Formats: sequence, C-alpha cells, structure tokens
Amino acid sequence: MFPKVNPAQTDAWAELEKHYDEISKEPMVDMFENDPDRFKKYSIQWKDFLVDYSKNIINEETKASLIKLAKECQLKEAIEAMFTGEKINETENRAVLHTALRSNSSEPLKVDGEDVRPLIQTELKKLEAFANKFHAGELKGYSGKSLNTIVNIGIGGSDLGPYMVTEALKPYWVKGVKAHFVSNVDGSHLYQVLQEVNPEETLFIVASKTFTTQETMTNAQSAKDWFLDSAKSEAEIAKHFIALSTNQAAVEAFGIDSKNMFEFWDWVGGRYSLWSSIGASIALTIGFDNFKQLLDGAEAMDLHFRETDFEENLPVIMAMLGVWYNNFFGAESHAILPYDQYLHRFASYLQQGDMESNGKFIDRNGDPIAIQTGQIIWGEPGTNGQHAFYQLIHQGTKFIASDFIAAAQSQNPVGDHHPKLLANFFAQTEALMKGKIEEQVVAELMDAGKTEEEIDLLMPFKVFEGNQPTNSILIKKITPFNLGALIAMYEHKIFVQGVIWNVFSFDQWGVELGKQLAGGILPELEGDAPVDTHDASTNGLINQYKSWK
Ligand code: F6P
Repeated sequence: MFPKVNPAQTDAWAELEKHYDEISKEPMVDMFENDPDRFKKYSIQWKDFLVDYSKNIINEETKASLIKLAKECQLKEAIEAMFTGEKINETENRAVLHTALRSNSSEPLKVDGEDVRPLIQTELKKLEAFANKFHAGELKGYSGKSLNTIVNIGIGGSDLGPYMVTEALKPYWVKGVKAHFVSNVDGSHLYQVLQEVNPEETLFIVASKTFTTQETMTNAQSAKDWFLDSAKSEAEIAKHFIALSTNQAAVEAFGIDSKNMFEFWDWVGGRYSLWSSIGASIALTIGFDNFKQLLDGAEAMDLHFRETDFEENLPVIMAMLGVWYNNFFGAESHAILPYDQYLHRFASYLQQGDMESNGKFIDRNGDPIAIQTGQIIWGEPGTNGQHAFYQLIHQGTKFIASDFIAAAQSQNPVGDHHPKLLANFFAQTEALMKGKIEEQVVAELMDAGKTEEEIDLLMPFKVFEGNQPTNSILIKKITPFNLGALIAMYEHKIFVQGVIWNVFSFDQWGVELGKQLAGGILPELEGDAPVDTHDASTNGLINQYKSWK
C-alpha cells in the first residue's frame, strides 16, 4: 500500500505557504505581459483536447512546488496501487478498479486471486447482445409489441452518471428510443414518468449496486405494481424488468430472474460505475458501439494519466491547481461551467463524484485532518449561469476558481448560435482574469458623457478586481470518445486530490447516518399519536406533518 503522508508536513507544503505570500496578489495580467510564452507553457494539447490553465495564479515556482508535493505524497505509487487492484479502499477492504472496466488489455488483473478481465468481457458481451436485440426490435413485451422505451430506476451513482451521459450524448441516441430516469423517492418523480410511457413497450432497468437502497427499491416496487396492473401476470416481468447489481440474492427476491441481471462487482464504486453494467441505459440509448467508444475514450485518459509525467498530466495538473486554491487561497468552492447545453447535468454528476469522494475529515491513518479537504462543487451551463450567479464570481467577496468547458464544433450548428456561445466563453475567462481597473471605468464614463460628480459616484461600483482563476477545456467535439475521456479526467483529478489530502476517496460513511435515522422515523409517521422521541425541533416538525397529512 502506498504510504500515508500528511501533506502539511511535506517540504513542498512549507514552500507553497511561503510562495503564496509572494504570488497571491500578483495580477495574472502582468504575468501574461511579462511572459509571451505563458499560454504555451501552461496549456496541454492532448488528442481532441486543449486544456489551457495559463489563467491561473501560478508561475514556474508554483508548478514545481505543486508537483513536488504530489511526489512527496507518493502519487505515482498511489496511481499504480489503484490500477493494479490493490485494496486501496481500506475501510471497505476493496480494490478500486473502474479503470479495468474500460481497459482493452488482456494482461491478467487479479482481485482475491481471480482475474477480473474475463468477468468484465462476459458482462460487456451480454450487454452488447441485449442492446443489439433491443435496437433490432427483437425484445418483445407482453402484448407482442417491441420494446422501445427504457425507464432507469436508480439513485446516486446508479442514476447521475447514466443520466448525465445520455443527456450529453443526445445527438447519438438510436432513432426511436425513448429514455427516462427516475431517482427521487418523491412519488411525483415516478408518477410523471409513468404518465409518459406505455407499459407494453417499456423496459424497466432497476439499477442498484446494493439492491437495498430505499429510494430505488420503493420506486422499483411501485413501477412493478403499475406494470402488473396492465400486464396482469407476474410471468411478464421477465420481459420488462432487468436488474443491474452486485447482489444476486436481492435481485431474485425482488422477482427479477438472475438471467435478466447484469452483474458488476464490489470493486466498482457507485459513483464510478457508469462504465459497468450500470451503463446499460447508456448502451440502450446511444447504441453499444457508442458505449464502447465512451469506454475507449476513458481508457485513453487512463493511459495518459498512468504514463505521462506529472508536468504534462491533465488530471494531475487540474488536481494540483485545485489543491493550490483550496489549501492556500482558502477557496471554498469550485465551479464547473460547461458551455454546452447537453452537458447540463455535468456539474451535478461531479458533485457526487467529488464531494462524496473527498468530503472527509479523517485521514487515512484515522486521525482528524487539520487542513481543508473536498471543495464544494457547483455550476450550471453557460450562458445561463452568466445571467444568474456570475455577478458573484466577478464582484463578490469570494475567491472562486472555475472550469470552463466547451466544444469547438456544435452538435447543432444553428445560425450563429455557436460563435455567440463561444464568444461568451472566451469573454468570461478574459473578464474574470483582467477585471476592470479604475482608469478604464473612468474613460468609459467620460465617453458616455457623465459629469465628474457622476463619475465619482459610479466608479467604485463598476470596478472589477479580476484575478479570478479559470481553466479552459476546449474540446473539438463532444463525441462519445471525448466525453469518456473528459469524465475520466475528472475521476482522476478527484483521485489525485484524495491522495494529496490523504483521505479514503472510495467510501462514503457520511451518507449512512441520515439513512439510519430516516429508517427509524418512518414507522413513527404512521397513526396519529404524537412523537416525543427526538429533539424538540424534530418532534415539532413530525407532529405538525402528522396533523396536516
Ligand atoms: O449515496 C450513497 C450511495 O451509496 C452512493 O454512493 C451510491 O451511488 C448510491 O447510494 C446508490 O447506491 P446503490 O447503487 O447501491 O443503490
């Protein structure tokens, strides 16, 4: 196992603390003026990606110290430990091998003495055959009609990844396929979807690693009841329900034959599972070949991550910049701003990926952590965000670094929409960096014919400090391959940060407490008797609910 290093005790950390005092107030504009090669130095061209990180508050010393920190934290050893199947998820005693799911290698990769490569290939082949049948209209429902609609029932990693990807790749959907995703235990979510589907033509996909998640099992049971109202016979379930899970016994207990189960394994974390059978909804929506392209794109990024020097390594650079701002600038959050409508779920997807992975306060030695760990991830597609929250990034009091993501080629080149979209993308990163200085504001107000008095009054409100850092991720086109690579880049960024902060990124014990308490409260909501087993606030809320329900 790779060593458990406290990053704050490394030489690089001390260097970065000192360096922060020297560089933090230096305007990026000056950095560009003083170095004509800055863009070239701080951007990486990789396949269809251009990642420009030159609009960050860094110089060569910063980069060298950040890389030194990665090395002192034994990042190289950590990467190898993950890829080779060591049980780096120690609190659950599990390997972390989502990378194996997209690997084309046939070199044996053993977990507990068993080579996982053939297991993965078998499930992929099964999924391919099933998807091809679905698209050929060969999967018939109880009335003899071909199935053409899917309803994925899952939550967290069993929903966010597949939903984000199918939305991101909408232009690649197989003609005639309809897809819906139900996640929330709020009955309205399922109700609305069921309004739109025909039971005769619908395939329900119950996606749950554990097959015990309350939300998913409740939605699946209600979907089954709704289906049986029309189909009338339990025997028809086999044609309309499949399960994606690691828990065969629970799948069978629910009433889904294990023949209709697509398996995956405990070494696939929920939020890293879209590459596994959990991606069935993706393959059924965009076709198996496109699903394979998605996997291949992710594999290409895996190879880049594993083999490239840290200085040119996309996930490493992105991660270390995040560490720089999180731990030295005190940045609380990081914005994800895709200038691509189809990527409208990307920030939500990364919220789970990042915050469930690195939102930890105990280190890998079991000790409380004195430094900041996982950041708050948030965002919306541009340009909508520009008319909502960018004001705060431009002129608020918070320090916020952002990732801007856009494709050079539009999926739908309508009129001049795409140049306008991209003009906004470029303008925003420039504005966030440059800000607007007093002289500029005064000149503009003078041009607008304002009096000296008016200028004095308005000037402070119109000044932008700038120096807000951005990464620009420009991709030639959002193809399945490139999307796979983009997602994998962020997965590895999260991994790197987890290594630096010395946390276990692949467990999520923090989600358990709420689940346990909800389990205890549910029976108390029955009947009219007032509840007094909680604190005054919780009792008060429960009792008001009971009187109103
Ligand atoms: O939110 C906690 C969590 O365990 C996630 O990690 C997971 O993705 C989600 O619940 C759903 O779990 P399952 O796939 O087992 O239903």
